[in-house]
This record gives sequence, C-alpha cells and structure tokens, in this order.
Amino acid sequence: MDRTKFLKTCGIGCLGMIGAATVLESCAGTKYISGTLSGSFLQVPVDSFVFIKKEEIRFRKYVVAQHEELAYPISVYRHSETEYVALLMKCTHQGTELQVFGDRLECPAHGSKFSNTGAVSNGPADTPLRTFPIVIDNKILKINLA
Ligand code: FES
Repeated sequence: MDRTKFLKTCGIGCLGMIGAATVLESCAGTKYISGTLSGSFLQVPVDSFVFIKKEEIRFRKYVVAQHEELAYPISVYRHSETEYVALLMKCTHQGTELQVFGDRLECPAHGSKFSNTGAVSNGPADTPLRTFPIVIDNKILKINLA
C-alpha cells in the first residue's frame, strides 16, 4: 500500500469512529420509555426520570414516551417534582417528527426549534407544539391524549 492510499484509509477510518462516538453519545442522553395505554391515558412511571450518579438520586430533565399506537412519540419534561410538560414530537410546520436535544426540540426538515414548554424559538413553524394535560397518580404520570 502506498503512502497516499494508507493516509486516505486511516482518515476514513478515523472519521467513522468519530461519527460512531457522536451517535452513541447523543443516544446515551435520551431515555426512551414504552408507555402503557389505558383508555385515553398514556401512563409513564415517575421513576422513569430517576437515575443514580455517585450514589445520589438524580432526575432526568426529560424522557421520550412511545407506544405502537401513537404516530409520534411524546417528550415529557420534568420542570419540578409536581410539574411536568408533555409535548407531541410533531413539527407544527409540516408534520416531521422532531428530535430532542436536552431542553430543546428540533425539526430535521427545515430547522424549526421549540423550547421544553413547546414554544416556537425558531421558524419556519409559527405554532407551539401540542401539549397534553398530565395527572400524577400514585407515582404514575397519566398523560391525557384525548
Ligand atoms: S416540517 Fe418542521 S420545519 Fe418544516
């Protein structure tokens, strides 16, 4: 193998490893939950937000709830012990499924951005995300989809 071919091969291999590490890192930050459907309620355990770090109980900012009967996942943000916000991950511009990045959701189609309360922070979308009322009952978040 000549020097040029060797360098090209190594460069492509390194880019592949960097790309894989980026994908793994972004996946590690989001917890996906299979919610339970009961009537018009999607149920998510409050404990889904809990994790242990350095022997301390901590809480995730959000989880993404899914169910096979839902066309779009729902991101559930924990703002406090008693305040949660459930956002349909459907872009209000043209309906593309959103991606979640910490405190914001982004549309891969045309770049709209939304806050963790569903407000538009960057267009072209001009309508907030659909939200759902939540009731906390016996450590279960009951998201009313009706
Ligand atoms: S569909 Fe989301 S910005 Fe256009």
